[in-house]
Amino acid sequence: MTSAALTIHQAVKTYSNGFTALKGVSLIVETGEFFGLLGPNGAGKTTLISAMAGLSRLTSGQIAICGHDVYKEPDISRKLLGVVPQELVFDPFFTVREALRFQSGYFGIRHNDDWIDEIIASLGLSDKANTNTRNLSGGMKRRVMVALALVHKPPVIVLDEPTAGVDVELRQNLWQFITRLNQQGHTIILTTHYLEEAQMLCGRIAMLKHGQIVALDSTRNLLNAEPGLRLQISLDQTLPASLHHCLLQADGHNYQLKLTDYPELSMVLQTLQAAHINIKSLRIMENDLEDVFLRLTSDHAKGVA
Ligand SMILES: Nc1ncnc2c1ncn2[C@@H]1O[C@H](COP(=O)(O)OP(=O)(O)OP(=O)(O)O)[C@@H](O)[C@H]1O
Ligand SMILES: [Mg+2]
Repeated sequence: MTSAALTIHQAVKTYSNGFTALKGVSLIVETGEFFGLLGPNGAGKTTLISAMAGLSRLTSGQIAICGHDVYKEPDISRKLLGVVPQELVFDPFFTVREALRFQSGYFGIRHNDDWIDEIIASLGLSDKANTNTRNLSGGMKRRVMVALALVHKPPVIVLDEPTAGVDVELRQNLWQFITRLNQQGHTIILTTHYLEEAQMLCGRIAMLKHGQIVALDSTRNLLNAEPGLRLQISLDQTLPASLHHCLLQADGHNYQLKLTDYPELSMVLQTLQAAHINIKSLRIMENDLEDVFLRLTSDHAKGVA
């Protein structure tokens, strides 16, 4: 039997100040998955990723990359994993190409220039290949972080907020590139606050809240569990009281309504017409991952501590 790309068993992390950031997280990501690790700020995503990378030790529990325990076999597991960290940290004395060559050397890879050229081109760094990394813009630095994580062609790639502060064009380039790597068999584990990206890319998603997994399912199943519509509507008068039961938000005569289905939408439109209220603008949105996320992870969510 081949091992899963990532196996986390009962991960607990209590920081030295006594704060427990992970409260027993268990998770298996199979080889070849495009997996989303989502959760609000402070949920424990980066803590979990640091433990995967062997950068910080769990208080208890185990983590293995492709069957290799990150603490017992650090050299093997490190080569199997490429992590794009959330924080921008790298040696400011190298050019982009030098940094990539140096990183290759760190992994014991000598002749890596073809792959380095490919990463540089795919991440739109060709113009900056010979620029010193300290002279790059924030978004360019982020691209270099991604490149550094890929230099040893790791079978498992973890991206912690790779698109934070990155412009639209690079985001698209990056996703094309990562999707291609995934199609070639690399396992991708992605953390992002851009939920539409996660919805589009990830086959399965885990949602973390206060150091615990509150949802773990296919993206499809998570969306199916959240049927319904949101209606954004601007009226020339106040919303009739008979529609207050579906009101989510009001700002002047602009309203956001939560509806169960399309028949309820027709009922709303009929009610407005009967009351001689004119619609100035209207937008209908089917529930998306953001609705699922808010239901499961907001501090008002029911049923989870
Ligand atoms: N070194 C540390 N010492 C004490 N507490 C820490 C330390 N590092 C992180 N924490 C706390 O652990 C919790 C989880 O932090 P973590 O960085 O893992 O969250 P996250 O899910 O990555 O959040 P974000 O979406 O903001 O990146 C937070 O409450 C954070 O304040
Ligand atoms: Mg984080």
